[in-house]
Amino acid sequence: MSSQPHIRGIAFVRSAHAELVAGLDCGDTRWGNLATEWIQGPRAVRSQALGTQVLLYLDHADLLVGFGSIGPNKWTIEGEPVELRYIPMIGLASSHQGKPEHVAFSEKFSGLIVADLITRAVQFGHRLLGLLCHPDNTAAMKLYVRFGFEQLPTSDGFGNRHMVLRLS
Ligand SMILES: CC(C)(COP(=O)(O)OP(=O)(O)OC[C@H]1O[C@@H](n2cnc3c(N)ncnc32)[C@H](O)[C@@H]1OP(=O)(O)O)[C@@H](O)C(=O)NCCC(=O)NCCS
Repeated sequence: MSSQPHIRGIAFVRSAHAELVAGLDCGDTRWGNLATEWIQGPRAVRSQALGTQVLLYLDHADLLVGFGSIGPNKWTIEGEPVELRYIPMIGLASSHQGKPEHVAFSEKFSGLIVADLITRAVQFGHRLLGLLCHPDNTAAMKLYVRFGFEQLPTSDGFGNRHMVLRLS
């Protein structure tokens, strides 16, 4: 049997999955708390109303590993309006952070989630996938850079850097 982790994404439905996400803990850090609040509170549902897909990721035993999200957005890059796919939030259960150990970044649970979101972005045919990441969020920043995301020179009003992955 393969020792590689396997995850599958299912569409988040608040009415069906409220209890499942109530048990998700993305870690007791500033970023972990933000992610947990995002999926448990109103922001995930508000994001869905704007066209964002919110995915819950389950492991081989159907345990909740984490979540990801991807939707439409418009940014201004170098003075030009650009339509792109955008990742509003990713969160990994603290029990699965850094796991499995001693595998390539793309085979960790975090990498599997990012790879799935990139695949979904490619299917939309946009040239860019964007997200916001605070430079102090070291784990997230390293993860995104490993996948080829580049920092733009701009930030939002909260110090989060605009980052993009070129898809074509
Ligand atoms: C961001 C997140 C998905 C990353 O997943 P993870 O499993 O914790 O991180 P990874 O194991 O993929 O690690 C990525 C890199 O960061 C490093 N890292 C992990 N935690 C770290 C920490 N606290 N401090 C410094 N480096 C850290 C890892 O060693 C790895 O680097 P390496 O490959 O050079 O060793 C996860 O931490 C998470 O859900 N965090 C809370 C929510 C969040 O921040 N979402 C993103 C918002 S932009």
